Amino acid sequence: MSGLFSIFVFMSQLSDLLIDWYSENKRILPWRDTQDPYPIWLSEIILQQTQVKQGLPYFNRFMAAFPTVQALAEAPEETVLKQWQGLGYYSRARNLHAAAKCVCERHGGRFPDTYEAVRALPGIGDYTAAAILSFAFRQPFPVIDGNVFRVVSRINGMTEPVDTPACRAKIKAFLDRQIDRRRPDLFNQAMMEWGALLCLPGKSAPCLQNPELCFYHKHCRALRDGLVEQLPVKKAKKAVRERYLHYYYVARPDGLYLRRRQANDIWKGLFDLPCIETASAEAPLPGLKRVKQYTHLLTHQRLHLFFYEAPRQLPPQLDTDGCFPVAPEHWADYAVPKVIEKFLDFLREKHR
Ligand code: ADE
Repeated sequence: MSGLFSIFVFMSQLSDLLIDWYSENKRILPWRDTQDPYPIWLSEIILQQTQVKQGLPYFNRFMAAFPTVQALAEAPEETVLKQWQGLGYYSRARNLHAAAKCVCERHGGRFPDTYEAVRALPGIGDYTAAAILSFAFRQPFPVIDGNVFRVVSRINGMTEPVDTPACRAKIKAFLDRQIDRRRPDLFNQAMMEWGALLCLPGKSAPCLQNPELCFYHKHCRALRDGLVEQLPVKKAKKAVRERYLHYYYVARPDGLYLRRRQANDIWKGLFDLPCIETASAEAPLPGLKRVKQYTHLLTHQRLHLFFYEAPRQLPPQLDTDGCFPVAPEHWADYAVPKVIEKFLDFLREKHR
């Protein structure tokens, strides 16, 4: 076989083998049997946060609450945040809302169909733009998420760190060559499904038990070279910032003090309690009883939360600007971070 011809066979084989495998093994998911960009976009934003199984109920509830991009654009921000509650990364919900407004104001309510216009919407990066344009409009932009990184680094046996601009460019160039130009939607969905169901991380990859479990075992360089478990290689992780948040509550007859977080920081727009942040776990207001303590992990931050019961006459060091009392039966009306919700559940239980 001539070199050129063998390359051609190899290239058409990846897409054909992949799409055949996908057709037989894919999960049936509500955002897959549509070309409507709105549910596609929504699902991709939700799935950046969470696994399919946990994301599905959020997707269904969101679609029921805001069935169209117009409905989302017209909803108050608090309603949107409330639907998002529990998913974390609330800036994504705020961007979703802002982007819905842009679609209505700039594009007359029709989702744009060029890369530049889609990419210009708030909260839409390269990954989401490629997903929307390929799934909804069948344009040949490859999607590159963590799963796709793993698959591509393995099939090519790439031993350099994948999370660098140079390697990312290499992976993108590979996918630009491989993507099925007639079926970019299926090709992209199938690549992601391959990573989600079959080409699993570390020791979980089924090919380590039996290579024939993978449709691509004859061509995979990592499998040939015994590198499956080690790939993809990642650079050392960015340091985690430790934060100490000391929260105060007063069991008042008219309720608990809540306030909306305004600063450009974690949980912007959500509600929490009066708080003092310090550089250590040491209590900043001595003499108050610590009733509860939680650790909460974000991507680059480890939050240490301490809850103290305060006297009715709040200590003067505590800034209560913007605080207002909320009776227990109304706590559920406010969008609060997951870990604050955990504390409210604890209080409800305690004062039952
Ligand atoms: N994860 C991210 N996008 C996805 C999709 N469209 N289907 C399944 N899992 C996904």
